Amino acid sequence: MTTTIETISGEEIVDLCRRHTLFEWSVQAAVDPIPVARAKGIYFWTPEGKRFIDFNSQLMCVNIGHGDERVVRAINEQAAKLPYANPFMATDVRARLGAKLAEITPGDIDAFFFTNGGAESNENAIRIARLFTGRHKIGARYRSYHGGTAGALTLTGDPRRWGAEPGIPGVFRIPDFYHGIQRGFETTDEVLTKTEEILQLEGPQTIAAIIVEPIVGTNGILIPPDGYMQGLRELCDRHGILLIADEVMAGFGRTGEWFSVDHWKVVPDLISMAKGLTSAYVQLGAVGMRRKIADHFQKNFFYGGLTYNSHPLACAAALATIAVYEEDNLIEGARRMGTVMRGLLEELKSRHPSVGATRSLGLFGIVELVRSQKTLEPLAPFNGTSSEMQSLGKYFRQEGLYTFLRWNTFFTNPPLCITEAELREAFAIIDKGLEITDRAVE
Ligand SMILES: Cc1ncc(COP(=O)(O)O)c(C=O)c1O
Repeated sequence: MTTTIETISGEEIVDLCRRHTLFEWSVQAAVDPIPVARAKGIYFWTPEGKRFIDFNSQLMCVNIGHGDERVVRAINEQAAKLPYANPFMATDVRARLGAKLAEITPGDIDAFFFTNGGAESNENAIRIARLFTGRHKIGARYRSYHGGTAGALTLTGDPRRWGAEPGIPGVFRIPDFYHGIQRGFETTDEVLTKTEEILQLEGPQTIAAIIVEPIVGTNGILIPPDGYMQGLRELCDRHGILLIADEVMAGFGRTGEWFSVDHWKVVPDLISMAKGLTSAYVQLGAVGMRRKIADHFQKNFFYGGLTYNSHPLACAAALATIAVYEEDNLIEGARRMGTVMRGLLEELKSRHPSVGATRSLGLFGIVELVRSQKTLEPLAPFNGTSSEMQSLGKYFRQEGLYTFLRWNTFFTNPPLCITEAELREAFAIIDKGLEITDRAVE
């Protein structure tokens, strides 16, 4: 029997994918993917027509929502005209995207190297930092994720790094400001004092850059205490160290500003982006740099290249996506809906004993679940799961709510085009689901 694309069932899709393709960051026998056939706005559907609310914008990337005709049209038109030109060529979409990004990125960042995603942006950011400073060390935090390639995984502090060790040389850790739900946050003074001590011990003159997610994504939606980002900027300036902001997840409106550093008016030396840049309609990443760094490469050789650098299809998708953010006021919308979501998260906290903490900024949110309000013991251990977290995941799936569950947390990161009614619809499912985890509370 031959199976055509049109008749293939959800079950067959899952079977074939599991047999012939590898799923990321998993023991393959344990994966249980949702078959997905189409998507529109904040929703996606299985081939059999079951509808899901996409409460994680897939992988925190489909910021404008699914199936936006304006972006689809731009991709189609570019595909018909010029789907590819090699990176030594200059194209109109590359030209216009560079100029547009210079307009929306912080301060005097106005030159960009285009990549295929976040990891490659970070790889190029650290190479640029090393070439520019002539130094080799890079500082990064434990509670971080910077991508799945060799250098980016070495920068990554979370357990995904373990499989890539020993990794690249020259990476050291700077202190985190959050230590898990039981120990909580440090003050700006505490964490910056420790950071400065580490810089002294490493030898500031050997350090090319510090890379941080200004608001940490998968490792907990961690919003730094006020003054931290400004303090880090000042420390870097004092020692001639470049500051790299990894805005791959927090950028493009997610937190209610174009970039999360904008909340503190801090201008990083290098900024990496991907995900929301095209809302993932076509893969594209970029590393942006301040004028002094771009000028350095006017005279010095730039070591970096990718066959798909400045891919016209992706540049067209990015230009159309940025136009959607602007036309539909999605950055301001994220701020407005973010206030509604903050209220809904606070309601959850007041109603459910299993909610230990909620954090959010704009439409970047997380719920941390606990076994006890007194001890704040997490409902699943670090890098692990529990029967209660699994039951909650099953309930969300059964009720058609897709989101990301990780350890003792789940995320609330809907597309920025979500309406208040849709937000409330999703939170009604969450509210009911938390009755499961409440039963585990002592
Ligand atoms: C903060 C951050 N940096 C980098 C990456 C890596 O991006 P990509 O998967 O596009 O390589 C991610 C992906 O989740 C991320 O969240």
